[in-house]
Amino acid sequence: MTNSRLTQKPHQSSAESHWTAERIAKITSGRKYEIVPPADAPFMRAIGLLGNDSSMPADAVRKYVQINHMLELLKAPLLDLRGRHKNLAILDAGCGSSYLTFLLAWYLKNKLQGDFSGNFLIAGIDTNKALIEKSRSMASILGLEGNMHFEVASTKDFQWDALLARRPVLAEFKRPQMVVGLHACDTATDEALGLGLASGAEVLAASPCCQAELASKWRELSQSQEGRSHAMAPAFQAPELRRTIAAEITDMMRVLLLRASGYETTATEFVESRHSPKNRLILALKRGRFSKDAAEAYAKLKDHLGGCAILLESLVSDEVQELTSSNR
Ligand SMILES: C[S@@+](CC[C@H](N)C(=O)[O-])C[C@H]1O[C@@H](n2cnc3c(N)ncnc32)[C@H](O)[C@@H]1O
Repeated sequence: MTNSRLTQKPHQSSAESHWTAERIAKITSGRKYEIVPPADAPFMRAIGLLGNDSSMPADAVRKYVQINHMLELLKAPLLDLRGRHKNLAILDAGCGSSYLTFLLAWYLKNKLQGDFSGNFLIAGIDTNKALIEKSRSMASILGLEGNMHFEVASTKDFQWDALLARRPVLAEFKRPQMVVGLHACDTATDEALGLGLASGAEVLAASPCCQAELASKWRELSQSQEGRSHAMAPAFQAPELRRTIAAEITDMMRVLLLRASGYETTATEFVESRHSPKNRLILALKRGRFSKDAAEAYAKLKDHLGGCAILLESLVSDEVQELTSSNR
């Protein structure tokens, strides 16, 4: 990204001397990533992946690898959306330090925008005010303020329509066609997916994090007669088993609810576990209105596991809720 607001020259020569072929190979493991130092050092420094001395701390390496792998998996859906929509809007729910948010903006601006006549907007929301303020300032430093919007908001009650009402200048972005949530905490992942469902987004991408909801319901269940005599009682009663099994089952339930909502949905490992133990990507692509089979599968799974629902169940459409309950 070339931008006069980035003070490049003194830093660029340090980036060039620091980033030897050997160091680049070490952080990329020989893979071809979209952003690589030293060529993209100004952008990487601006978003906090590189220090002033152009080095990349271990935590930043992990984030660098995660967001690049995520981008690889999102490229095909992005291209597809770009081909079908003049204006493209993406919502990053729980954007935190906004590494992925900025990489998406960088990619659209530098790699995709030339091919299209329309415009794009990447909106990031987070409950952390300091991080949102920092992201706003980074957008301005990078000259991306016209393509980015950051807002202190919770996934619980954020509404795209309310954003458009507050910011009429964004009216050309009628709804987000893609919603991403990278490591949004616990049920914030369900809320991020729910925001995508509510706005009819064609692409939903979530990498879940620290799911506690189902485990806490199982803990309650373990105190009851039903829970004590249940086939899953050993898992309901043991905190470690309960937490890990509930997290896996939560993701299975999410996949089924998204499929039930008409999305072709996969759960894959998007990055090796050494780069992040939270390395599952749930990717959902809108294909139809609903799937009765998936709704039935969700209802069956839930019933077999003590009847505890996950938040996402309350966020799918009434039609899908009807299907999941009518099969019990
Ligand atoms: C682990 S961080 C991940 C941040 C970023 N997506 C990333 O991968 O670098 C989780 C973020 O979710 C935000 N968060 C948690 N619950 C939220 C909610 N209900 N609404 C909006 N943001 C939330 C936190 O403030 C935090 O910044």
